[in-house]
Amino acid sequence: MNYFYQRDFLRLLDFSNIELENIIILSQKLKKIKKNNQETQLLKRKNIALIFEKESTRTRCSFEVAAFDQGAHVTYLGPGSTHLGTKESIEDTAKVLSRLYDGIEYRGHNHEIIEILAKYSNVPVWNGLTEKFHPTQIIADLLTMKEVYPKKKFYEIKCAYIGDSHNNIANTLIEAASILGIDLRLISPKQYWPEKNILNTCQEKARKNKTQITCTENIQNGVKNVDFIYTDIWVSMGEPEQTWKEKIELLKNYQVNENIINMTNNPSVKVLHCLPALHDKKNNIVKSILKKYNLTNGIEITDSIFQKNEKIIFEQAENRLHTIKAILIATLIKTINF
Ligand code: CP
Ligand code: NVA
Repeated sequence: MNYFYQRDFLRLLDFSNIELENIIILSQKLKKIKKNNQETQLLKRKNIALIFEKESTRTRCSFEVAAFDQGAHVTYLGPGSTHLGTKESIEDTAKVLSRLYDGIEYRGHNHEIIEILAKYSNVPVWNGLTEKFHPTQIIADLLTMKEVYPKKKFYEIKCAYIGDSHNNIANTLIEAASILGIDLRLISPKQYWPEKNILNTCQEKARKNKTQITCTENIQNGVKNVDFIYTDIWVSMGEPEQTWKEKIELLKNYQVNENIINMTNNPSVKVLHCLPALHDKKNNIVKSILKKYNLTNGIEITDSIFQKNEKIIFEQAENRLHTIKAILIATLIKTINF
């Protein structure tokens, strides 16, 4: 029995620990099969709509390559290219698209939109990122953690998330940790702690799973003995440009740098980043932010720490493909072996 068949993939809290583990196992199999050039196309004649109301490199390309590898067709609907939410209601758009397509991916500004899309669509809807959650990203991160520690159970893993804990990546990590039992520490100034309702629900679930999700301003305590440090950009897509000033002032001590790595007391600690990362001066945004705020070495992460962890960070990016492929297959194919 495939419990994923025809289900939406909007947030991780909708799934059990066994279901998340199964998606990771399927991703591992698919990764190996692709590397060995042995892929069988299970999604032939499937059509997939990709709605992106925000920009994307990894998520869009992973959905497209996963679909192409598996024999499916995609239609990319970029920012402003549909009537969704302007001339046409979300409800009508959902009804139309689900007559034409076998599944709909949505990336947008407002999580409520994807919930309405899912409610009125009778095909699976996959969340490619909203301001609240980024579930396909965190599944790739979980696969990456497993690759680093194949013998560890998730409940044996300790992870510190540092930076803006009030964003989609932090919220989704919290959900994953509460389901799988990861010891998660969110390290930020109080202003950027997670939304209370998500945090409370997940802390309660974590307690039942005999683990803990903690929020702290104290970096030294938070990072002690962790296996992973995870960070994300401080200003997310859709947040106004002016936010940088306040965030840089409050978050500058929470930059992932050599000091923080040393505080972990773990010489083999690994750093994860969902990307894009503002670590070097090779793009104009970073250049102008560094100049404007008188910073010299990266924003949420220093360039040297990024470079030292480059291998795992880019593996994490590649894992978007294998995990998104697993999600497409699990939700679109009735009988699969996990
Ligand atoms: N990590 C991630 O979602 O990247 P994109 O914004 O490039 O899709
Ligand atoms: N928090 C970031 C994640 C990017 C993948 C954003 O929403 O922009």
